[in-house]
Amino acid sequence: MKIMVVGGGGREHAIIKKIKQSPLAEEIFVLPGNAGMKNDATCVDIGAKDLDGIVAFAKENKIDYAIVAPDDPLVLGAVDRLNEIGIPCFGPKENAAIIEGSKIFSKNLMKKYNIPTAKYEVFTDMDAALKYLENETYPTVIKADGLALGKGVVIAMNKEEATEAIHSMMEDRMFGDSGSRVVIEEFLTGPEVSVLAFTDGNTVIPMISSMDHKRALDNDMGLNTGGMGTIAPNPYYTKDIAAICMKDIFLPTINAMNEEGRTFKGCLYFGLMITPKGPKVIEYNCRFGDPETQVVLPLLESDLLEVMMACTNGTLDKTEVKFSDNSACCVIMASGGYPKSYKSGFEITVSDGMTADIYFAGAKDSDGKLVTAGGRVLGVTAVEKDLAFAIDKAYENVKKVNFEGAHYRKDIGKRAMAASAN
Ligand code: AMP
Ligand code: GLY
Repeated sequence: MKIMVVGGGGREHAIIKKIKQSPLAEEIFVLPGNAGMKNDATCVDIGAKDLDGIVAFAKENKIDYAIVAPDDPLVLGAVDRLNEIGIPCFGPKENAAIIEGSKIFSKNLMKKYNIPTAKYEVFTDMDAALKYLENETYPTVIKADGLALGKGVVIAMNKEEATEAIHSMMEDRMFGDSGSRVVIEEFLTGPEVSVLAFTDGNTVIPMISSMDHKRALDNDMGLNTGGMGTIAPNPYYTKDIAAICMKDIFLPTINAMNEEGRTFKGCLYFGLMITPKGPKVIEYNCRFGDPETQVVLPLLESDLLEVMMACTNGTLDKTEVKFSDNSACCVIMASGGYPKSYKSGFEITVSDGMTADIYFAGAKDSDGKLVTAGGRVLGVTAVEKDLAFAIDKAYENVKKVNFEGAHYRKDIGKRAMAASAN
């Protein structure tokens, strides 16, 4: 089969490395991909948001199956467009991708179907939002409605910070139209768990749980980023919690989407917080997480392509989805300065004897050399029989990767290890 993957980061590299293992995959194209993945797939210089370009390429090259990985093309309707020309796809259609595309949609869905989440209010008018802050308790959480590169969430510690956030979203349009409507919601506490789940619209099969590390610096300090590292499985996600999530969150969400006439097929990402009152949904994503995928898929023992096609065909109930008992740790190496401004174009070198996988994100070719070309440059993932070994091995291998100004957190997995010890 000829496979086309849309996207270009570490998550897509992890998907590609996994589907390469499938006997069904004969040829893999990635649009646009990056130079770090060129040994694993053919990179095609078409952007992930260029739907016309993607559709034309798929038609011309007689693609048999497409995987749309990032949020933007999913929310823009890439799956619908490819289906129109007869190409089956992994990923939700536009009317289901809204579960990530609009926070107001997802919050209203949870309220309507009694799915546990933080209490909230929606505002379309800035003055009303500012007035609401008068009687709010702090910290409080302010979210832009639409996609905002993972940066549309502000935890405001007091009224001044909240006021500033409302102004920058609704007046200065820091996130463009994404900020024309905002959600103000209750601040929750507790450990966070990411659960990615395969679904064909009826059956839902959660993958192994994981933990992201979103802040730029050690001990969860510094700015929020796209994710600085992950571990799997997440020790906070016990069997009991998993059973509650299936009953109160996963199945009700799939059923709710069906009720609304928005059947969700693909990978549904549940961003959960295990609060003292039980697990609650912090956010839904309509896609695989990045860098969660870089620890979850290396632990998958089943044929990923078969599982994906079962999601598309509605046969997930008849398909085995098996994960190993091992643990994985992914450490992201970023450009110095990220998530603020940073320099690019530094050569990336990898010394001999790597015993971990590298998933490239911000890398490009320059005169035959691989150089940095983004904030998050790559992730180093190690798999071992337990988490402590996986963490050690990931960090040993990080030392073998070099580029000027490389920044990475030194404490990926530390919180998980402390939790496992209790
Ligand atoms: P999101 O972009 O929705 O994933 O939010 C980014 C981060 O903000 C989450 O991973 C949480 O750490 C935090 N967050 C979002 N909503 C809440 C909330 N209601 N209470 C506490 N923290 C939150
Ligand atoms: N790692 C968080 C996300 O993919 O949204």
